[in-house]
Amino acid sequence: MISSPTRGAGSPIRGPASTARCCGAHPTPSRQARAIASIRIDRVVLQSIGSPLGARVTEFRAALCARRSGRAQGCREEMCREERAAKLIEQCILAAAITPDPTEPPRMDDFSYTNGRLHAEGVPVDEIASKVGTPTFVYSSATLLGHYRRLAEAFAPVDPAICFAVKSCGNPEICRLVAGAGAGFDVVSVGELERVWLSGAPMSGVVFAGVGKRRDEMLAALDGRFSPLAGSGVKVNGMGPEGRGPIGLFNVESEQELEVLEDAAREAGVVASATLRVNPDVDAKTHRHTTTGKRENKLGIDLARAPAAFDRFGDSPHLNLRGLHMHLGSPIYSPDPYTEALKRILIRIDEIERNGHRIDRLNIGGGIGADYETGSTPSYSTYAERIVPMLLPLVGRGVKILMEPGRTLIANAGVLLVRVEYVKETSGGRFVVCDAGMNALIRPALYDAFHFVWPVRVGEGQAPARRSKKPEGPGLVPSHVVGPICESADAFIRDWPMPPVERGDLLAVFSAGAYGMSMASTYNDHPLPAEVLVDKGSWRTIRARQSVAAMLLGPEACGPQPAETTA
Ligand SMILES: Cc1ncc(COP(=O)(O)O)c(C=O)c1O
Repeated sequence: MISSPTRGAGSPIRGPASTARCCGAHPTPSRQARAIASIRIDRVVLQSIGSPLGARVTEFRAALCARRSGRAQGCREEMCREERAAKLIEQCILAAAITPDPTEPPRMDDFSYTNGRLHAEGVPVDEIASKVGTPTFVYSSATLLGHYRRLAEAFAPVDPAICFAVKSCGNPEICRLVAGAGAGFDVVSVGELERVWLSGAPMSGVVFAGVGKRRDEMLAALDGRFSPLAGSGVKVNGMGPEGRGPIGLFNVESEQELEVLEDAAREAGVVASATLRVNPDVDAKTHRHTTTGKRENKLGIDLARAPAAFDRFGDSPHLNLRGLHMHLGSPIYSPDPYTEALKRILIRIDEIERNGHRIDRLNIGGGIGADYETGSTPSYSTYAERIVPMLLPLVGRGVKILMEPGRTLIANAGVLLVRVEYVKETSGGRFVVCDAGMNALIRPALYDAFHFVWPVRVGEGQAPARRSKKPEGPGLVPSHVVGPICESADAFIRDWPMPPVERGDLLAVFSAGAYGMSMASTYNDHPLPAEVLVDKGSWRTIRARQSVAAMLLGPEACGPQPAETTA
């Protein structure tokens, strides 16, 4: 029998642990207090002095003081919960005033041209291609971890649990890297859930979203005995899935799903922790296929119905309904959709709390953009400056904030290497036909997405100064860069001014780390690409290229795959 999920230490989505009491009914959130106290003062806080954030913090403190003077006269604790929060925020502001700006210029990625040759963290990528072949995704750990660190620093004042969206890039090595940096995980299927478990990350740091979760998936997330890998002999750190604990949170998308989750939790003998995914009806101003927060989208429940859902399920012995979740879409290039949605959500949180329910989780989802062109995404501070002030009052009263970024962390950390098979001139233009296309990277075909494509080796003056939709340089030739798939949608880019290439040349498709390999398919029976990770000047294959035999007969038919590595 598995015991109820605890809220113990170690999980990035855990909140206040202490329940020591001071004046009346306010728990002292010692973990929260420590988290706020240990905030690394960054540019957001530094800029907060005299900024809208500073004004909000001041306003927040004033409200706390007013409430305190009207209430806690008789409290014998030196600092009650709210006073402590106010004090810590004050410390942050003071520290900001004396701490030098720790920011460094945001770096798009660690892929750059030296002597006409593309390098990843100093490793020539043509060397990788010559050993591993093409198509191959090459990831830079420095880029991934750099983005993670900057995001965490920008939002440090609210100390969010950052749950990496596995759907953006699920390679176990990538998962291990972000877990090592402190991330939890956002998953949307039992497959992604097991992928996270296989990477060795704790289940307690996992949030499970998705509009169509099946009951069996919920069971596997609640209790490893129901894992599809149970009984397979697979072990992680010497343990099978049977012994693992339940995940941290379900992001539940409908009342019916709450019924099913309640039932699954009853069967597993646990209490399922959940947030309710709400649809705030806000336009994220992104592609219609990746907009998820408008009322015509299938995701979440109408925000107006959230209070009733809490009334109905708030007292369930098998559910711990803890808060709200939103995810507006992706990529989002402005803080505005977040602030608009939060404005609406905060009103509902008040209503839910007035109805007697406790909210201690708010998940603001993912969606922050990535630089498909140099400098196209606002800095993380630009988002944080507007979003953080709206969250601080919640954090001050013990609400744990969660985020689910994927693209913004991993998109720029990956390039796709492809080889030119043919160059053919037709009356319709010059077609550069590569050995992979929409089968490896479907974003251009599916979303009309822009990816900068450039030869891995270039002549004098042809290394791109910046990645832009209007490249400049000597000798560029308009080209349609296409794949081998039998569809006219199969193009990386059309009418694209690029240095001329020949059969056998290598091309790099930039910013391909997110929704590249994870959306790759074997369409037309092309095997899946390889994946390589560059880390501090050395590289290794983190997923071997799928062989035709493995694709057709299953991996068991093929024996172990060789892994290429070099220092
Ligand atoms: C629920 C949820 N959270 C997070 C994400 C990650 O979005 P992004 O990769 O844009 O950060 C997605 C993407 O579809 C999602 O559906």
